[in-house]
Amino acid sequence: MSERTPIVAGNWKMNKTLEPARELAGAVAEASDEVGDVELIVSPVGPYLRAVGRTMEGSDVGLAAQNVHWAESGAYTGEVSPTMLRDIGCSHAIIGHSERRQYFGETDVSVNRRARAALEHDLTAIICVGESLAERKGGDTELKIKLQVRAALSEVPRSLARNVIIAYEPLWAIGTGESATPEQAQDAHATIRQLMAGLYDQKLADTTRIIYGGSVKPHNIDGLIEQPDFDGALIGGASLQADSFLSIARSVQDYVG
Ligand code: PGA
Repeated sequence: MSERTPIVAGNWKMNKTLEPARELAGAVAEASDEVGDVELIVSPVGPYLRAVGRTMEGSDVGLAAQNVHWAESGAYTGEVSPTMLRDIGCSHAIIGHSERRQYFGETDVSVNRRARAALEHDLTAIICVGESLAERKGGDTELKIKLQVRAALSEVPRSLARNVIIAYEPLWAIGTGESATPEQAQDAHATIRQLMAGLYDQKLADTTRIIYGGSVKPHNIDGLIEQPDFDGALIGGASLQADSFLSIARSVQDYVG
């Protein structure tokens, strides 16, 4: 890894009721000083964002929404605007997670609209991209990732692109226990960084954090950390227990600290 501050982010998805969510957030906040060189982020379900944020008050753990709408307000039942998320203390928004794309009709176009709105409202956008197993087997991994990144960042000016984190999450690795190998992750991250240099410039590409997600666990983080374009992890299952989440964060801290 490089001088880019590494990220360890927990995507809690639709898990944890209020009290367990608070407990987990409390444990993460308490341990955050120990991993001072790592940027920690947690992402609870929307209705608990405020409570979780309050539990972590005084720590510098980031608070990420799992989605964000593009409009300020209006007739969009079930959606939440970037201003509303800022109001309740969110610093980040996860956008275009494959579960949103797969189950809720999220498209490259809607991902782009959400990303632009988030960035315009000073939310750091964690944009998720990744290929399916069929695409990987068909040799289309690079093509797919490039298409998704390019589409997500359409009309995003350089000044806002500085606030983008790209999460490479191959679909076949999410929730399956089968992580990408460090080499597979590195290849994808390098492709994304090169694309960022083409879309913007080398300086921006060199400072963009590119994180990996898909069955990241305490036992497989070590190989990933060593990859030059690996800037951290977006963690689902292993983020639901303080022990495993913090163990991953400590491994990253030990590597960079
Ligand atoms: P996983 O999820 O760690 O459970 O594979 C990762 C994600 O979906 O962000």
